[in-house]
Amino acid sequence: MADKIRFIPDQTDPARLYKLVAGLVVPRPIALTSTVDAQGRANLAPFSWFNAIAADTPHLCLSIGEHPGGRTKDTLANILSTGEFVINAVGESIATRMDACAREYPPDVDEFAATGLTPVPASLVRPPCVAESSAWFECRLVQALPLPRSSYTLVIGEAVAIHVDAGAIDARGRIDMAALRNIGRLAGNAYCRLDQPFSLEHDSFNRYGPHP
Ligand SMILES: Cc1cc2nc3c(=O)[nH]c(=O)nc-3n(C[C@H](O)[C@H](O)[C@H](O)COP(=O)(O)O)c2cc1C
Repeated sequence: MADKIRFIPDQTDPARLYKLVAGLVVPRPIALTSTVDAQGRANLAPFSWFNAIAADTPHLCLSIGEHPGGRTKDTLANILSTGEFVINAVGESIATRMDACAREYPPDVDEFAATGLTPVPASLVRPPCVAESSAWFECRLVQALPLPRSSYTLVIGEAVAIHVDAGAIDARGRIDMAALRNIGRLAGNAYCRLDQPFSLEHDSFNRYGPHP
């Protein structure tokens, strides 16, 4: 066994802690999240403390911190005010524009207009979807849980509609990862591609048929 270095979070510098957690839990999927405010103005921002947490009734979660200085992020304010959000997949072709959405714009700036991404109406919720994304999850808020000893709020949503590019799903429902070209977040400014997937043989995972 390799020697380990132990960190006790309460005794560790916050910047070091961030590097530790963000660098060790990798790769993280990215939720490019669209919301609207009470006046219907759109907002778009990426979140990588993000995952799917249930599939029978599909649920997704993301964890939203504060802007430096403590201002509430527009995404969280909008989700709390409207109860709705859309999670848009992030493929390589929109990586730069996804990153541009993370700039600290004032609340009245529409990141669709600022980055040139194209809004298209969702089917069941008010926030628009991103036309350039290969998959969309239209979500309704289930719970927003402020983490007791953190500035982050865990947002859990139920996906009430899921859309995927017709060319990225086959007749048996299998998703073509190569067609999605999703990217993952590593630490700092680093990202990864899904270009070298591999398979393990494990029959018990085949309840719904082999994948891929
Ligand atoms: C790839 C990527 C992932 C990010 N993940 C998160 C995250 O999980 N939680 C968070 O609070 N901020 C995250 N951010 C930062 C937010 O996107 C950024 O603070 C943004 O300005 C928030 O916008 P808003 O105020 O419009 O909601 C991430 C940024 C990038 C580029």
